[in-house]
Amino acid sequence: MLLRSPDIHLDDLLRVLAQRTDPADCPLATHLQDDVPVYDCAALRERLSAEGEALRDTLMAEWARVWEHGAGLVVLQGAFADAGMVDAVTARFQQIIERERLRGAVGDHFAKAGANDRVWNALEKLCQDDPALFARYYANDMVALASEAWLGPAYQVTSQVNNVRPGGAAQTPHRDYHLGFCTPAQAARYPAHVHHLSPMLTLQGAVAHVDMPLESGPTLYLPHSQKYRHGYLVADREDFRAHFEQHRVQLPLKKGDAVFFNPALLHAAGTNRSSDIQRMANLLQVSSAFGRAMETVNRDQMTRQLYPALLAMRADGTLSEDEADRALAACAEGYAFPTDLDLDPPLGGLAPESPQAVTRRALREGWSADRLGAMLDTMVTRRGRDTA
Ligand SMILES: [Fe+2]
Repeated sequence: MLLRSPDIHLDDLLRVLAQRTDPADCPLATHLQDDVPVYDCAALRERLSAEGEALRDTLMAEWARVWEHGAGLVVLQGAFADAGMVDAVTARFQQIIERERLRGAVGDHFAKAGANDRVWNALEKLCQDDPALFARYYANDMVALASEAWLGPAYQVTSQVNNVRPGGAAQTPHRDYHLGFCTPAQAARYPAHVHHLSPMLTLQGAVAHVDMPLESGPTLYLPHSQKYRHGYLVADREDFRAHFEQHRVQLPLKKGDAVFFNPALLHAAGTNRSSDIQRMANLLQVSSAFGRAMETVNRDQMTRQLYPALLAMRADGTLSEDEADRALAACAEGYAFPTDLDLDPPLGGLAPESPQAVTRRALREGWSADRLGAMLDTMVTRRGRDTA
């Protein structure tokens, strides 16, 4: 079953948004702010060390309930208690930003270029630059608890730094990876149950690396919106955007606070109206262990082997365009991710072109095998051979 655009009604979103958080559903939270459960990590740590496993399980169940059935996000005050360590990581991130600035502009999604600094794959860069600091930072208990609460064990951490400079404008409201990085037309081709599945495969987090008062533009959220069924199809709807503008909430953060949210929650980075705050957040995107196939397949090599055959069979009429398309779908990698976003930035869209999309274009335009091969060489560099 597919979700269809004629079934998109703002009223259905409003019905979902009318739900309110029952404090009884999140008894470990210290309070609700704008209906969002807020947790005091210092108090949680004390209780966790006193009460152990049972409380850990209760806490994880509570967070998972909030992300799926509740407001869709939690604020963890003092998630990183050591401010000096956070500052040390901030300094490393700033070094990386400086280093990359010399190389020219970096593409970004959901935001205009130039108002922010984006570090793609900050996880690997921090690990390379300062392994000991990486170890202290990712030794964090709250990041591990939140990740396991949503995804179970063997989760895969990635991180991107976003530093929004004074004057940096708000993003457009959106959902996040996976389906959130599709256009509504692309998302509509995935069946309804996949819209339900997509947010289960990642947890989105943000660690505040500086104090973020409201004037600095911390993230805008529409609590409960992750439960709206057609939410991956509304990115270009003016009425939804207008409702977001009027009803979104914005939560100030202190350095070391973290927010974790369901990637299907409608959200957007806010406008930095301050004159002097470099609003730096480390965005954590944690993926399920299950987002991978059972077998390793060298799709890059298969694509190179298949392409001359497809060209010949298209030329002599053995295969129609649709038939060639289907053969290609069984062979070439059809997903744009994972990739190296430094080399393969999402310029002009949400996602770079996949090897399958490139090969389809090559076939349509009659590229030689050598020309496609050269293009695939570039993609192997960007994506790594396993996924190209
Ligand atoms: Fe986002």
